[in-house]
Amino acid sequence: MKLLLFLSTLFLAAFSQRIALFSPPTGTEVSPGQDVTVQLVFGNSLTGVQHLNLVISMLDCAGTACPTDAGSGLETPLFVGNFTPVFQSGNLPPYENFTVTIPETLSTGTNMITVAHSLLVGVSEMPIVQYTNVTVSTP
Ligand SMILES: *[C@@H]1O[C@H](CO)[C@@H](O)[C@H](O)[C@H]1NC(C)=O
Ligand SMILES: *[C@@H]1O[C@H](CO)[C@@H](O)[C@H](O)[C@H]1NC(C)=O
Repeated sequence: MKLLLFLSTLFLAAFSQRIALFSPPTGTEVSPGQDVTVQLVFGNSLTGVQHLNLVISMLDCAGTACPTDAGSGLETPLFVGNFTPVFQSGNLPPYENFTVTIPETLSTGTNMITVAHSLLVGVSEMPIVQYTNVTVSTP
């Protein structure tokens, strides 16, 4: 019983260590060619976390339902590289801002900015890929 409690606490700790997209907010208008700030927040780490890699990508899904599984493809990467969230002024957990350029070919309608983040968690260095996304509106 104690072991189970311990394990589920560990699980919760690992689970709460998630990447979150704070900006742009849902429904923001983004035009082809425009520069957009993507603000990615990562909750304060209770156990060790090693950030491996980050991909910020554009899914052109105007006129159809946006995909529900980013694991099946990221379409158009806008940024590939390191994720180094740090405490900055304000009350937010550690975060990092990225400036990405919206593809010129993006269709008019509802599209999705999606993020894939790979990391190692805990003393066992468990590899994880986390996804987050936001839908935006292209005029
Ligand atoms: C986008 O996020 C929603 C809400 O978390 C999720 O249900 C959906 O599967 C995600 N889509 C992709 C492509 O990751
Ligand atoms: C990061 O981006 C957010 C949203 O645009 C902004 O409010 C914040 O001031 C930015 N932080 C820094 C350090 O530029």
